[in-house]
Amino acid sequence: MKKINHIGVAVYSLDDSVEIFKKILNINPSKKETVESEGVETIFFNLGESKIELISSLSKENAISKYLSKKSEGIHHICIEVDNIESEIKRIISNGIRVLNEKPKIGADKKKICFLHPKDTCGVLIELSQEIS
Ligand code: CO
Repeated sequence: MKKINHIGVAVYSLDDSVEIFKKILNINPSKKETVESEGVETIFFNLGESKIELISSLSKENAISKYLSKKSEGIHHICIEVDNIESEIKRIISNGIRVLNEKPKIGADKKKICFLHPKDTCGVLIELSQEIS
């Protein structure tokens, strides 16, 4: 476990929220990225060692869309950067924590990712991510 890579924020509109976060952070974000596998669009603000990821949904049938209709906008997940995601997933499972995908997926920002089960993590959705070298 290395550091917090980013905090994911679920938003209704990527364009509207980008304008708001530009006013707050006084920096320009990365390019918009579509993550087909998740049916979402994301944009990152690089903030020193970590980032803020804004996520909006492209369909009604995915986790972000369900989150937005249940809880409205807000902090959706915390992403922790790791060196070896496969071995961290094994270690975490052996400690009795469930994961949502045992095999890492390819996520936004060209990373291998895995989400831990929020029922096993005090209600905090945790994403593990490893840079693809
Ligand atoms: Co994320």
